[in-house]
Amino acid sequence: MAEKATLILDGKTYEFPIITGSEGDKAIDISKLLKETGYITFDPGYVNTGSCISAITYMDGKKGILRYRGIPIEELAEHSTFVETSYLLINGNLPTPDELAAFSGLLNDHSLVHEDMKTFFSSYPRGAHPMGILSSMVNALRAFYPEVPERSQEEELNLTVARLLSKLRTLAAMSYRISRGHRVIYPSHELGYCANFLNMMFDSPVKPYVIDYDVVRALEVFWITSADHEQNCSTSAVRHVGSARVNLYASISAGISALWGPLHGGANQAVIEMLQEIRDSGGDPRPFIERAKDRNDPFRLMGFGHRVYKTYDPRAPIIKKMTDKILTKLGRTDPLLDIAQNLEELVIRDPYFIDHNLYPNVDFHSGILLRAMDVPVNMFPVMFAIGRLPGWIGQWMESMEDPDRKLCRPRQIYLGPTLREYIPRDKRIQMKENGEL
Ligand code: CMC
Repeated sequence: MAEKATLILDGKTYEFPIITGSEGDKAIDISKLLKETGYITFDPGYVNTGSCISAITYMDGKKGILRYRGIPIEELAEHSTFVETSYLLINGNLPTPDELAAFSGLLNDHSLVHEDMKTFFSSYPRGAHPMGILSSMVNALRAFYPEVPERSQEEELNLTVARLLSKLRTLAAMSYRISRGHRVIYPSHELGYCANFLNMMFDSPVKPYVIDYDVVRALEVFWITSADHEQNCSTSAVRHVGSARVNLYASISAGISALWGPLHGGANQAVIEMLQEIRDSGGDPRPFIERAKDRNDPFRLMGFGHRVYKTYDPRAPIIKKMTDKILTKLGRTDPLLDIAQNLEELVIRDPYFIDHNLYPNVDFHSGILLRAMDVPVNMFPVMFAIGRLPGWIGQWMESMEDPDRKLCRPRQIYLGPTLREYIPRDKRIQMKENGEL
């Protein structure tokens, strides 16, 4: 017999179906709750709410497991490329060599952006955050690449996906070059996805960029580990906005805005800024740890804690290993790395952080890796956005194909004033003077 959950409300008994996921996770299906009982649920931050059924990414927050389409993140980071992983997330399976060649070819074909978009860039004030610029540029892509009625919906979608994957990377590199007052470098058909990006960022007419394939690999791994994370804040924003049937560009633009926040994708930037603050205050992390533990202080240690992982974030050791490799290879030392190591050692032994299940997350290590690649700090969230893009696309496509899809429209519990009369304007002045308003 199918499992059911029983709810007793106002003396009446209701039954709700239990849904069991392929890894044994259980959920109470309350989709008919309001209709049958007149009640809604209250769940701030959706901590207990499953917003969709998905077959893309599996996370186990207690065991520290992350898999894309069933494949462990560790294996993808070891053997796969970012383009191959993007194909996996979007299409459901790893590509055959022919499929991969066709997909990579499509990305190469669509890597240029409309020249008029450059004028957009130059109109932004100096110092504008690249995430704000990227979000609006991605929205603007729809205007530059409108739908063509002669194309089938499938052709249009494939084209939009290829454009987004390829052009977001070009736009990100362009924004960096223009912000520095440097000439834009165009993408090259000779280079792969990650090498192309590094070349567009760092090549110079006076000092040609020499591609280091260990650095390219580090970027592949960073982007593979960033590529999806089930219903996180930005992915939920993409699905939420998309549920109103807006186009994919606008939905991705919303995802970029959500990712910008320091509690989400902006954390890698916030981690470096926090480590710099510790360095500038003398290098001792202990006062910062004490502040983070003080309930009356809103300060949090950036790069620690996660909504789902209550153990080590499985992406963190992958990025840490890659960071050590790159720093050794490049023969670099990073003073912030010593501070980070000291901070981590103190935090993982501190009872507050142990009791709260707060462990270093991926952003704690990714900032140091990006610094080693010479990526400027304000570009860190942009780097995360390029990595997260295939996940957003795959999740958006899945939501469009969902037979039970619905407009996302949560409810609320109203606690404002009950019915009251409208006070005419002149009476309000008098009432204000009398202290009655
Ligand atoms: N430093 C100090 N205390 C913390 C921290 C932290 N970084 N994170 C959570 N806590 C405490 C929090 O004060 C609360 O304590 P209490 O129960 O005593 O009031 C408790 O832990 C639970 O916190 P919460 O805010 O209810 O938990 P959450 O699941 O909503 O928060 C989080 C998840 C990621 C927003 C939070 O851990 C945080 O703000 N971390 C710092 C920012 C960060 O590193 N974000 C990147 C996340 S990983 C990248 C990604 O996937 O986006």
